[in-house]
Amino acid sequence: MLDLEYFWNRLLLTLGVLLVLKPSGCVRTSDSRPNFLLLMADDLGIGDVGCYGNNTIRTPNIDRLAEDGVKLTQHISAAPVCTPSRAAFLTGRYPIRSGMVSSNGNQVLQWTGVSGGIPTNEMTFAKILKNKGYATGLIGKWHLGLNCDSAGDHCHHPLNHGFDHFYGMPFSLMGDCIQWEISEKRAGLEHRLNLCVQIVAFAALTLTVAKLIHLISIAWMPVIWSTAAAVLLFLTSYFVGVLIVHADCFLMRHHTITEQPMHFQRTTPLLLKEVSLFVQRNKHKPFLLFVSFLHVHTPLITTKNFCGKSLHGMYGDNIEEMDWMVGQILDTLDKEGLTQSTLVYFTSDHGGSLESQLGNNQYGGWNGIYKGGKGMGGWEGGIRVPGIFRWPGVLPAGRVIDEPTSLMDVYPTVVQLGGGQVPRDRVIDGQDLLPLLQGTTQHSSHEFLLHYCEDILHAARWHQRERGTVWKVHYMSPVFHPEGAGACYGKAVCPCSGEKVALHDPPLLYDLSRDPSEAHPLTPDMEPSFTQVLERVEQAVREHRRTLSPAPMQLDSGNVWKPWLQPCCGLFPLCWCDQEDDWQ
Ligand SMILES: *[C@@H]1O[C@H](CO)[C@@H](O)[C@H](O)[C@H]1NC(C)=O
Repeated sequence: MLDLEYFWNRLLLTLGVLLVLKPSGCVRTSDSRPNFLLLMADDLGIGDVGCYGNNTIRTPNIDRLAEDGVKLTQHISAAPVCTPSRAAFLTGRYPIRSGMVSSNGNQVLQWTGVSGGIPTNEMTFAKILKNKGYATGLIGKWHLGLNCDSAGDHCHHPLNHGFDHFYGMPFSLMGDCIQWEISEKRAGLEHRLNLCVQIVAFAALTLTVAKLIHLISIAWMPVIWSTAAAVLLFLTSYFVGVLIVHADCFLMRHHTITEQPMHFQRTTPLLLKEVSLFVQRNKHKPFLLFVSFLHVHTPLITTKNFCGKSLHGMYGDNIEEMDWMVGQILDTLDKEGLTQSTLVYFTSDHGGSLESQLGNNQYGGWNGIYKGGKGMGGWEGGIRVPGIFRWPGVLPAGRVIDEPTSLMDVYPTVVQLGGGQVPRDRVIDGQDLLPLLQGTTQHSSHEFLLHYCEDILHAARWHQRERGTVWKVHYMSPVFHPEGAGACYGKAVCPCSGEKVALHDPPLLYDLSRDPSEAHPLTPDMEPSFTQVLERVEQAVREHRRTLSPAPMQLDSGNVWKPWLQPCCGLFPLCWCDQEDDWQ
């Protein structure tokens, strides 16, 4: 029955596509499956984009996607930070299922040289489409692990997870990647070490000279020891100052490091060139290209052309550059005649970071009317992100959908359109979006969405369709600092557990359909169905928990830096190389 329905849908879709692709266009006719171009920004807030209501940041290219496609206004990431959210995106499953969450406060992978990462037995949509004949590429950020046991086993590498082409950062942009953003703590440490090196080196030198000119008569041992101490301290300070700081800021093509450390002024042109070459190379077969931007994560690497151009400081400059990149990529599709045959998707991995500040400069994102931001699993600002789909002729242009959807929905949608089958041997939490996007159904298939912070359920959402209400129940939430602030200033992100997290008993209840900013918790007096709503959500949470099976937690013990796993393209610790000299 199901298969028949599936077949019928595919037939209709194929007919639709054939109608759209007029024979005169020299677009492929033998294979009606679309290409997929998935664009994911890093840490971009929903309030940072023109078509989501921002009137001072210029994002004409993203806005153009929305004009020509479908815009989702309640598009929710499965986690409020990078690693788990991206794991969920690629696997279509809550990250707790794959073990891509932490329980110890290390919410994301902290280094490249850790053993944790996306487990080999996970089935990404890239794996499925690759088996179905798609060329599959990932360009940009990964942040889902690299090695398991030895440097170079690359068990978590994108090429081991269904991508047949990879160019980008296995890790993530971090503040440390550029000198001026090195945290004060680290800078202070470096300073003290340098001072020690100097004192000890001076002592060794004095001793040596004094001994040589027979000013003092001591044995050679103290001289040798103090020299050895100076060398050791020097090496340590080198590690702290140079190696450790830049160790994770490198680019790779397939299995080879191409530059370490990275030269950031050329990273953007290099990534764009790679996208364009990938599209040209694969324009005759169906392809799936995941462009995972390094923008707009701190330290906000912006090329000179965009510096100082926006109304919102360094952060605004970086967004406007990313939007320009989106435009360049869409132009590439156009030039190759692939616009009609390509489903384009744009999103962000989670909400903007409110805690990121650099002096008076805006340094992190803006989540519009939504409360909270990156790192907050429960509040909308942490998880409600832009979501735009464009596929000319197949999806209506300019449509806006307010139904709850998830980034995990991309999984079944892409798999089925690509002619693959969603795995049946595991729970997949994403739902096929095509009927909703096309307008053949009015409602999202998600009745409930669960909102985790690490491995802890902070909140849950219930779309009570017959009433047209979206309820949100909060079981716990971080205590903001300073009091009355909207974030945990002074920390990188809010904690998910511990004494800085408030438990709500009874849980907080909001009606998101009337109060999207989560400003007014409801009470039993105000809301007669208060108790029933809580009970219904509680029941759904219980049912969800029954579907969980334990998985090794990749971000706990797997998140400890192991020097032997650290990729290095030189003689350790001198990790220097550059294969992009001819980049222009
Ligand atoms: C537009 O985005 C900038 C940058 O994040 C932000 O400072 C500003 O408040 C936003 N404006 C609106 C109207 O949302």
